[in-house]
Amino acid sequence: MFLNFRRVRKWQLVQVMTTCLVLSVVMVCWQQLDNSIVSHVKSYSYRYLINSFTSVNESLTIPRKQARMFSNFHYLMDHPNKCVGEDVLLLLFVKTSPENIERRMAIRSTWGNETYIQNTLGVTVKVVFVLGAVQTKETEPLWSKSSGDLIQQDFLDSFHNLTLKLIMQFHWMHSRCPHARFLMTADDDIFVHMPNLVSYLQDVSSRDVKDFWVGRVHRGAPPIRDKESKYYVSYEMYPWVTYPDYTAGAAYVVSGDVAEKIYHATLTLNASIYIDDVFMGICASTVGVSPQEHNYFSGEGKAPYHPCIYTKMMTSHGHIEDIHDVWKAATHPQVKQQVSGFLGDLYCTAVKLALLCKPYYFNTYPCIAAFS
Ligand SMILES: *[C@@H]1O[C@H](CO)[C@@H](O)[C@H](O)[C@H]1NC(C)=O
Ligand SMILES: *[C@@H]1O[C@H](CO)[C@@H](O)[C@H](O)[C@H]1NC(C)=O
Ligand SMILES: *[C@@H]1O[C@H](CO)[C@@H](O)[C@H](O)[C@H]1NC(C)=O
Ligand SMILES: *[C@@H]1O[C@H](CO)[C@@H](O)[C@H](O)[C@H]1NC(C)=O
Repeated sequence: MFLNFRRVRKWQLVQVMTTCLVLSVVMVCWQQLDNSIVSHVKSYSYRYLINSFTSVNESLTIPRKQARMFSNFHYLMDHPNKCVGEDVLLLLFVKTSPENIERRMAIRSTWGNETYIQNTLGVTVKVVFVLGAVQTKETEPLWSKSSGDLIQQDFLDSFHNLTLKLIMQFHWMHSRCPHARFLMTADDDIFVHMPNLVSYLQDVSSRDVKDFWVGRVHRGAPPIRDKESKYYVSYEMYPWVTYPDYTAGAAYVVSGDVAEKIYHATLTLNASIYIDDVFMGICASTVGVSPQEHNYFSGEGKAPYHPCIYTKMMTSHGHIEDIHDVWKAATHPQVKQQVSGFLGDLYCTAVKLALLCKPYYFNTYPCIAAFS
């Protein structure tokens, strides 16, 4: 009897100690847990149960006079006549920085070559590079006058000013190119499969679709509260547990009507939140526009190199050195022949399954893209 009792006590002691251990581990790691798991749980719950952003709208709405401080910068470079008198299918803004001269040259001679697009695809696409200023203001015009495709305002070109760059794009379109049927915004290390994109947009345009916003969608993303992170956002800046849905800033497209609505939203919103794609989501939520997923718009990742991918891809991220090679390979006339027909489809589905559906592998395009 006595022995038994002792055994029970011992067992209980072990239980209590284990519980304490677990609790202390949880408490030590709470910060970590809160940042990664709890914040996602909260954010998804909000996104899928409530999903109302009226309070966001209300608290970020400021008087027009104050909102103007986010947009009334001078143009250091501008091309006001870039679109005049032309039927522009797509106005494509490339977010770039003054020092990225090589990237701009690579884009101009590959997917962003307006002459090539006009000649081979028969549509007008305007590619415009958007920049902020470097600290010493007068250096800029020297190396860029001739190309006629740089627009620059006199805010400092920095990561934390990306939202100003976003606002600049919508304001520029509103005043210089309001008749463009679509607006796209992209990073300067993006690859755009221009022939695929143009035929897709022609199709959308022929159906006269409104409220169109397409890209890689982030749903129910929580604000990052870890001060070490590049994307840290304070409670003061954004107190809610989740962001409205938005598309990855690497590349997305909106229709002209959406661009105009976003322009109007920027006139009354506090744009101090410096993550530009999140701010885009906030603007869109105030005007009742939500994004749609397109399987072949990449977020952060780089697309696998393969003809079966090339026939479908819209954008792929992280191309700097290889941009000429990808452009040549992806637009080669033989690509379409190689993978056409019933057998070609079957072959490509198998290839894409193998390329996109690996577990524990960070993919550019979701696994489901294998079937489309
Ligand atoms: C753009 O394409 C045109 C026609 O295909 C070509 O003549 C021109 O050299 C290209 N421009 C650049 C910068 O590569
Ligand atoms: C943004 O640009 C403004 C105007 O040039 C500048 O005063 C400010 O310091 C910049 N902000 C950041 C975070 O770079
Ligand atoms: C905009 O929001 C910031 C916090 O992110 C705040 O400090 C600032 O006062 C707000 N601006 C206006 C005009 O309300
Ligand atoms: C956001 O606020 C503005 C101005 O207060 C209002 O006109 C608009 O209808 C609001 N939008 C939503 C979705 O509540």
